[in-house]
Amino acid sequence: MNDVIKLLKSHRSIRKFSDRAIPRELLVELIQAGQGAATSSHVQAYTVIHVKNQANREQIAELAGGQSYVATCADFLVFCADMKRPTEASEHTGANVVRGMTEQLLVATVDTALMAQNVAVAAESEGLGICYIGGIRNNPQQISELLRLPEHVYPVFGMCLGYPDHEPEVKPRLPVEAVLKEDYYTEDSEQVQAFDATMQAYYQARSSSNKDSDWSHNLKPLFDNKLRPHMRDFLIERGFEMK
Ligand SMILES: Cc1cc2nc3c(=O)[nH]c(=O)nc-3n(C[C@H](O)[C@H](O)[C@H](O)COP(=O)(O)O)c2cc1C
Repeated sequence: MNDVIKLLKSHRSIRKFSDRAIPRELLVELIQAGQGAATSSHVQAYTVIHVKNQANREQIAELAGGQSYVATCADFLVFCADMKRPTEASEHTGANVVRGMTEQLLVATVDTALMAQNVAVAAESEGLGICYIGGIRNNPQQISELLRLPEHVYPVFGMCLGYPDHEPEVKPRLPVEAVLKEDYYTEDSEQVQAFDATMQAYYQARSSSNKDSDWSHNLKPLFDNKLRPHMRDFLIERGFEMK
């Protein structure tokens, strides 16, 4: 296994950070590594907000559902899908821009996620830890106001960065046979059952937050509720109309 693959397979989200600061030059380098990601039609439909104001970070921590590490990590970034810049650039050349297409929402969201994951891997290669914060979509309107996001820009997720102050175990993933199929889609209930047993053992043995659960049971709150039902109206209001 080469070092890059080893690094990718050793990822674990970090939620406790030391006081050590991240040098500004390193942070900029991480963002540039993010920009190296492939981007749909070179559109680069993202903007990253580095939230430096501590009061704003504390507010975001609350808005994200009381996730204190948003306020205590070394640096907190909000990754925004940004269709404003590319559509305006195109408009300046005389294009008759059509906005609000569902495809544009997908393009910008995918671009943003690919860019962020490059930042995450680059950060981990430097000994930093990261945690994505989808919790910002609990209150996307307030987050957008706080960050002064214009129309056609929306906050996809945040990311905590910093030097780890704990060493959580790597969380198991589904058996590769469930995820990688040959030629056509096949059912995989046996692999899911096997994975539930793996996760049950993991949850019981891990060094913090032990629980008696498994993968399928853990998914329950995600799917037996309408998760963030405000997102559709929020996206439409921001100019991502899903036409
Ligand atoms: C888009 C996205 C949003 C996430 N949002 C949160 C979050 O709000 N809070 C949190 O503690 N972890 C969050 N996570 C981290 C996941 O819970 C974590 O990646 C998953 O449980 C797998 O664990 P691991 O990252 O340690 O391998 C998020 C991850 C992703 C990819």
